[in-house]
Amino acid sequence: MRVVIQDNYDKMCKWAADYIAKKIKAHKEDRPFVLGLPTGSSPIGVYKELARMNQAGELSFANVITFNMDEYLGLPHEHDQSYWYFMHDNFFNHLVDMKPENINILNGMAEDPEAECAAYEEKIAACGGIDLFMGGIGVDGHLAFNEPFTSLTSRTGLRDLTTDTRIVNSRFFGNDPEKVPAQALSVGIGTVMDAKEVLVLISGHNKARAMAAVVEGGVSQRWTCSALQLHNGAIIACDEEACGELMVDTYKYFLDIERKERL
Ligand code: GLP
Repeated sequence: MRVVIQDNYDKMCKWAADYIAKKIKAHKEDRPFVLGLPTGSSPIGVYKELARMNQAGELSFANVITFNMDEYLGLPHEHDQSYWYFMHDNFFNHLVDMKPENINILNGMAEDPEAECAAYEEKIAACGGIDLFMGGIGVDGHLAFNEPFTSLTSRTGLRDLTTDTRIVNSRFFGNDPEKVPAQALSVGIGTVMDAKEVLVLISGHNKARAMAAVVEGGVSQRWTCSALQLHNGAIIACDEEACGELMVDTYKYFLDIERKERL
């Protein structure tokens, strides 16, 4: 696992956007680049920078297919807290050459959510699998909506949200946890693990405990993101604040090894 430590949130986002752009540009296969995407506060700076590059003509999304990680159950597209709305508001609406038909987001209003999730897995496979899955994590280490103790081999499906997550996410729902949907559709940890590369953003003091568990703890369903220790192409891009609970030696190790890699 690589851990790329940047001074602050903005530099973390710039690093991640540059990395994604480099991968899209280097893609030479006879099929579109398949990019997995998260929602949340963490990726907003990455989306801004990718959109800037796109508008400046530095990066095209014409040959990119996207799959989002998750969506709240029961929220229609036009709901301002649906992840469909978030993605269009923060990213897709700002791209000049993204094809709408290449955007895939789980439908939170699907009549049969399980069938919706099964079809999503099939579509990812039909597109040749995900080349790079960007993600964020919750304070409890959840990846997408795979809460603690979700199977590390889980596939796309319906998930119950914990009270903790509903409280954390209530900041977008008038600070009322009861207004946060109790369930969501989410890719599984197994779905993320199938991606060729996974790039997870971890920012801020409130993620420091999860960061330490994911990087230094054992692989455990308690911290579902820790499954990435078994992925051969996993990168965590983080800021200094997220490193607050790491051992000094761990912190120094990654600064040292990444410095060498940049030479
Ligand atoms: C939600 C999403 C996750 C996201 C997490 C962290 O629970 N389902 O995919 O990673 O929030 O969000 P933030 O980046 O705002 O801390």
